[in-house]
Amino acid sequence: MKGIILAGGAGSRLHPMTTAVSKQLMPVYDKPLIYYPLTTLMLAGIREILIITTPRDQPAFQSLLGDGGRWGLDLTFAVQDQPRGLADAYRIGADFVDGGPSALILGDNLFYGHEAGRVFARAADTLDARRGAVVFAYRVSDPRRYGVVELDGQGRPLSIEEKPDDPRSPWAVTGLYIYDGQAPELAARLQPSARGELEITDLNRAYLEQGRLGVERLGRGFAWLDTGTPDSLLDAAAFVRTLEQRQGFKIACPEEVAWRMGWIDAAQLARLAEGFGGADYGAYLRGVANDEAR
Ligand code: TTP
Repeated sequence: MKGIILAGGAGSRLHPMTTAVSKQLMPVYDKPLIYYPLTTLMLAGIREILIITTPRDQPAFQSLLGDGGRWGLDLTFAVQDQPRGLADAYRIGADFVDGGPSALILGDNLFYGHEAGRVFARAADTLDARRGAVVFAYRVSDPRRYGVVELDGQGRPLSIEEKPDDPRSPWAVTGLYIYDGQAPELAARLQPSARGELEITDLNRAYLEQGRLGVERLGRGFAWLDTGTPDSLLDAAAFVRTLEQRQGFKIACPEEVAWRMGWIDAAQLARLAEGFGGADYGAYLRGVANDEAR
């Protein structure tokens, strides 16, 4: 399966931090924000990834990520010239997905939980078998800020609404979506919403109306954080710092994930570590391979 990271947008709630620099390049404690969604896709086994950015920021993302080869990935880049909404990813990415299934992840979403990669990979596998779309729902205390899905007793979706004033459930739709090859065709038929955006909720509703939308609930043991405001960005950084300092493991380290997935060998991991010189990040990478033996 292919992956798309949507990393454009205005980032206006983070101005002036994002006046000259993309939100998805902001630090979340010890690494750029985009490493978090990138490694979520990697842990789900996805290696061929399209990164959509603003025209202004594309060179910075390319210099950060390159073609992904050093992490065993195949990264390509595309631009979104205006923030036309999340479903615009499938207008831009239509050639990339080329009629096949894909996972779309928002560039500012952070997922963390036990076996998260396996949970997402399993959903992708069922989609391959069944066709349709799968979204992941997460219980939140303030559903009005999100797309909200209403579920029946069996966990099947009944309705889906974008930022409702009167939410029918506490289940927010998270920023990771898995679609079959029909997504570009359905996205092409969408009309902009009242706020002028091509809404991902409308794309999801198109699948729901066809009876082909699956919803996986992420339990309370999962963390799903967004990072769109100064407070949520700082909260995410504090979360990452707390876990990393407690365990001595890094969250969302692409070099480590590539090695654990078997996409690069220990010699390549050591080479990547050398590139960081005396920085703590390099020392961490050097420790990763040795640590396994203990
Ligand atoms: P949002 O947080 O909804 O929007 P934003 O990043 O533009 O921020 P703000 O509301 O503060 O202006 O976007 C969620 C993610 O999707 C984020 O990673 C940016 C990305 N995005 C795009 O790439 N293109 C778009 O057209 C939109 C709306 C968002």
